[in-house]
Amino acid sequence: MNYNLIAPFYSDLAMSKNEYLDGVDAFLVTSLSGFEVTTYLDIGCGDGVRTIRLHEKLSCPSTDGVDLSTGMIDKARANLHGPSDISFYQINTIKDISGEPRDLVTMLWNVLGHVPEESRLQFLKDIRKKVKKNGLFFLDVNNYYYYRYGPLRVIYRVIKDKIFPPQSFKSGDLRFRMKIGSQDIECTGHIFRPFEIINLLKKSGFVIEKLEYIDYNNGTSGTQIYSGQISILCRN
Ligand SMILES: C[S@@+](CC[C@H](N)C(=O)[O-])C[C@H]1O[C@@H](n2cnc3c(N)ncnc32)[C@H](O)[C@@H]1O
Repeated sequence: MNYNLIAPFYSDLAMSKNEYLDGVDAFLVTSLSGFEVTTYLDIGCGDGVRTIRLHEKLSCPSTDGVDLSTGMIDKARANLHGPSDISFYQINTIKDISGEPRDLVTMLWNVLGHVPEESRLQFLKDIRKKVKKNGLFFLDVNNYYYYRYGPLRVIYRVIKDKIFPPQSFKSGDLRFRMKIGSQDIECTGHIFRPFEIINLLKKSGFVIEKLEYIDYNNGTSGTQIYSGQISILCRN
């Protein structure tokens, strides 16, 4: 999916999911209470608005935001006003991220859903190398069992997965078109079964500390697997 095409309209898109994004950030910040973050890395930082906000909320002395899209990185740099302890730069792979492992690494709003299935485990293993020992990794991904995707459809998915445990997760791959500004843009992404993302994180070596389901429309947190998108805090 080409985020360079979306970059000019990204702030409007994010605004339309404001309550969800704020709900995720609130869950993250509350979960970090008592944990000192001196180095913070945001992977797939997009326009940098949330990176900057979290950097301030966490009173972090040093923050980096990285993204595959040059258009997004240009936006993020434009959102920095004056000298700052935040730097934004473009990457092609996780190996392009410089510096020592960080206290906190985030990957916000289904960034992992843009990584192909066959590369996801290695991608997470590479990310783990960027997190300090005992440091934290936080991500949110979209949920294949979220009830607002259609209650009947979700019941069918759950029953089907129970009877025929999936060998591949390709059925979570989405392809659709979105009218953004005057453009009709092809969008792709993957939505995750809760057990799928939990197993991937465990296989990559992370320990899961907290998990909540956050409603995509109003940002409320829940513990039922159908109640929202999946937010997970992990420890290295
Ligand atoms: C839905 S946006 C989320 C942006 C930001 N995290 C936020 O919450 O506003 C997904 C972002 O992930 C970036 N992205 C996708 N695949 C990536 C990868 N492999 N490495 C780094 N960034 C990636 C895209 O360019 C896009 O900016």
